[in-house]
Amino acid sequence: MTIPDHRMAERIQAVKGMNDILPPESARWEWFEDKVRALMRRYGYQGVRVPIVEPTALFVRGLGEVTDIVEKEMYSFTDSLNGDRLSLRPEGTAGVVRAVVEHSALYDGGKRLYYIGPMFRHERPQRGRYRQFHQVGVEALGFAGPDVDAEVILMARALWADLGLADVRLELNSLGQPDERRAHRDALVRYFEAHADRLDADAQRRLHTNPLRILDTKNPAMQPLVEAAPKLMDHLGEASLKHLDAVRAVLDAVGQPYRINPRLVRGLDYYNLTVFEWVTDQLGAQGTLCGGGRYDGLIELIGGKPAPAVGWGLGIERVLELLAQQGLAPPPRAPDAYVVLGGAAALPAAAAAAETLRAAGLAVLLHAGGKDGPGSFKAQFKRADASGARFALILGADELAGGEVSVKPLRGAGGEQQRVALAALPDWAEQVRTP
Ligand code: HAM
Repeated sequence: MTIPDHRMAERIQAVKGMNDILPPESARWEWFEDKVRALMRRYGYQGVRVPIVEPTALFVRGLGEVTDIVEKEMYSFTDSLNGDRLSLRPEGTAGVVRAVVEHSALYDGGKRLYYIGPMFRHERPQRGRYRQFHQVGVEALGFAGPDVDAEVILMARALWADLGLADVRLELNSLGQPDERRAHRDALVRYFEAHADRLDADAQRRLHTNPLRILDTKNPAMQPLVEAAPKLMDHLGEASLKHLDAVRAVLDAVGQPYRINPRLVRGLDYYNLTVFEWVTDQLGAQGTLCGGGRYDGLIELIGGKPAPAVGWGLGIERVLELLAQQGLAPPPRAPDAYVVLGGAAALPAAAAAAETLRAAGLAVLLHAGGKDGPGSFKAQFKRADASGARFALILGADELAGGEVSVKPLRGAGGEQQRVALAALPDWAEQVRTP
């Protein structure tokens, strides 16, 4: 394509609801991801990477045909080469389950897995809600007991502690088993039918497709009706109640407060027994940081040998926003040294010195001049200061002749300017390296 030279080309912008993450913001993401990976190591969860594009059928079957996500939020398209129906993943659980089934990964017992990556939902963009967003997810597959439910819940709690986050609350519920939910659903439909005149349009639509979602309504006028609706808790059998009690006992033992929220139903169909959300009041309407629960039927639904599972997904944008709101920031990461050159002739020696220091573990910026050389010392020192480096390394004509480099402490790093032989740079790096 040729661009007429009398005007700038028209700008192409990012897709609405999809964000660029540039420095210095990207440093916050990397800091966060480092914390997540360290946490996963401590709990023995292993990383898993699955495709961003999956057959649409995986999500339709896995998440449920009448969920909001499948009904109206998926980026789906037809592969123009072979006609396959594909979707950008709106969440991570279905893809991980597909991968585990496809590779028979549970043949030798349960697996504790985690992932970090982008998800896509065609929602109305607003604060804390994007069309491309990022999740950390954990999935513990092949474990049936309440011990693992408690484990994954406590992993999120440990992450809040590692990040220094305060005021994140835990809400808990049990969705029981399918037969218990059917009995409750029948009772709900009977109840809402008896009060059909008080249902809004959304609720009317859901009454015969997904009446449970009526309980999720944000419509204040519907609240009294919803409050008084039949409770699933009253339809739970002994085994389901026992499972919930066991999770509660662990939470109590570690002193983790929680609220039993009978209205907590989650937006995906695959859950049973334990469901939970970590929420905050500090992010406005999008206050759910992390949500998950048990999904014992999903592996079989995707074509695997029946096996239980539990997990959660956490919205990275929301967690980072809450961190910012609470004034929590990662420690700044400046280079250790900035290399300043006396002229173009110093470049080979300066580049070699920078490589030596980097190999010794220091973070080093080599001044990048232009086509005509490095520019004046003054301009270079301005850059060195702005970089936040602790030391400027100077390679002028003098230093070059002596096979040395001058080391100048910057920003109150302390000490006098000194000369260091190029051959002694690894020793110097050892002295100044921070852990
Ligand atoms: P989810 O509740 O749909 O669950 O999403 C988990 C988290 O992702 C939410 O709590 C929220 O923090 C974040 N999130 C969701 N949608 C958006 C959005 N449009 N913009 C920004 N953040 C968003 C799941 O996805 C399940 N796969 C969780 C799970 C894993 N359950 C069992 N294993």
